Amino acid sequence: MLRCILLFLALTVSALADMAAQDARFKKLPAGREISPPRALEGMALALAKTNKHGIAEYVDVKGAPGFEKALRMTVRKVPENPWGFQSHAKCAAKVAKGEVMLAVFWARAAGTSDEGEGTFVFELAREPYTKSSAFRFECGKAWARFYVPFVAARDYGEDDVALHFQAGSAKQAMEIGGLRVISYGKGVALGELPYTPLTYKGRSADAAWRKEAADSIEKERKAQLTIVVHSISGKSLPGAQVRVRQQRHAYGFGSAVAASPLLDEGPDAEIYRGIVANSFNRVTVENDMKWPEFERNRQRALDTVKWLRDANVAVRGHNLLWPGWTRLPKDVAALQDKPDALRKRILDHVRDEAGTFKGQIAEWDVVNEPVTNTDVQRVLGNGILAEVFKAAREADPQAKLFINDYGILSHGGTDTEHQDAYFRIIKGLMDAKAPVQGIGMQGHFNEQLTPLTKVWEILNRFGALGVPIEITEHDINAWDDEVMADYTRDLMTAVFAHPATSGFITWGFWEKRHWIPNAAQWTGAWQPRGHGKVWYDLVFKKWWTNLNTETGRGGMTKVRGFLGEYTVEARSGTKTKTVPVKLGKGGARVEIEL
Ligand code: XIL
Repeated sequence: MLRCILLFLALTVSALADMAAQDARFKKLPAGREISPPRALEGMALALAKTNKHGIAEYVDVKGAPGFEKALRMTVRKVPENPWGFQSHAKCAAKVAKGEVMLAVFWARAAGTSDEGEGTFVFELAREPYTKSSAFRFECGKAWARFYVPFVAARDYGEDDVALHFQAGSAKQAMEIGGLRVISYGKGVALGELPYTPLTYKGRSADAAWRKEAADSIEKERKAQLTIVVHSISGKSLPGAQVRVRQQRHAYGFGSAVAASPLLDEGPDAEIYRGIVANSFNRVTVENDMKWPEFERNRQRALDTVKWLRDANVAVRGHNLLWPGWTRLPKDVAALQDKPDALRKRILDHVRDEAGTFKGQIAEWDVVNEPVTNTDVQRVLGNGILAEVFKAAREADPQAKLFINDYGILSHGGTDTEHQDAYFRIIKGLMDAKAPVQGIGMQGHFNEQLTPLTKVWEILNRFGALGVPIEITEHDINAWDDEVMADYTRDLMTAVFAHPATSGFITWGFWEKRHWIPNAAQWTGAWQPRGHGKVWYDLVFKKWWTNLNTETGRGGMTKVRGFLGEYTVEARSGTKTKTVPVKLGKGGARVEIEL
């Protein structure tokens, strides 16, 4: 008991010390530029009060609050389908340039009869595609808690382009928000200098229940028995022979997206880049060079990239044959929107051409990319075009495994049920139309909204029921808290690897200087592994990797359990030694070594 109290006190004291340290950091910052409009919260309350059907929005007096007298109160009476079904909204007049380092500061507390509150702060484009620079989920109790939310502008936002939101629709609750400020520090201050509220997620604790289930499932799904029998040329069994089991390769797909440059470049960085690709990945996606516009512009580059990967014994994921939004397609394609026959021909010709060009060389193709929100082509040709594209890809390359791929399924806190449902319907529709969909890609680009691990598992269960393997095709994580980035990467990889429906986990780039979100890269520009990069190596090449030494017993036999994949097994007895390759599949393997 005493220990518990002491531990509690220690934690409270360290949390308070940490908060004080964050406040001190805030005070040290230069003035910055105010982005949030004056009286933003009042405006939010008024706007929401007019539009919402799920509860009440008010601007109320709050006595004794730290530094403000009024607050936005959100009372959710009926839980909407999505958390953003109840969200307050303020438009900002200020322009923001991509890369500006920003900070949101606000206070929150549970109000009315609620003892706890749960909300999300969002900074996003006020129109489609609602590009988010921040989506910060927070929890609060009865006392006012201050939140520091640092982030980087993900794009240029013009005048009236920025929308700020507080979403409260995840539960029946009452919550108050006060003291909101959104400040830009331009590009002169580093993200790491800003104060922050530590992030966390459900399922992070060491004794979380899902961990045991995941560990059991990994043991069952990802390992098998390897039986080794050693005997002499005359057939005499050799007990006491030394056996060295060395894993060479995973059966499960572990890899990254790679870029033709630096892969094909000269110089020391390219050298290191190639070394990492060849030594740590068994399945790799070509990030941009196989996309339709890029392929048409420079097909030799795509050919060279694929050749390099194949020579390095790395399986290739082609990405992608059709990304059906006009802006994703070669310039002339949009001009065909009033000529359906010509559009259809242009698309199918391309699919046959590119899939045919790489026939037999591609392990997996992302055939259709992001069809939930990229619907330009379907609007002209109907959804049937997606099935036609799958069939054309199948004819052009009978060997490649054909995937569909989309974002917002596992990420976004797992809350974007609209996106999940639409994806599910599209896949089901394709299957009903007998389209050869053989794999489901879930991109997995994470920001601060970290999906609880049990929710990840639920979503995998749902899509797994469709009967084809699921792959995480584009994982990355972009948050300001390095510790949470490492922990969440470890836990997500574990939950995914443990789920029987999955077959691979691909990260979307690994080097800061060649990453679409540099802060998400596993390796810094100077080739230092970051915390979440180390996690990758610890799991893939230590925790889930079997290297062991043993010796044969009675009958010259020994049995070991190992992770599925390729091995070499060396046996030594007296002066004789021999090494043989073995593949360990789901049903186990048996190898006889003759000395
Ligand atoms: C991104 C690349 O990483 C960038 O280099 C490029 O400028 C734009 O595309 N979903 C996808 C990927 O399916 O193709 C996108 O890749 C990231 C989001």
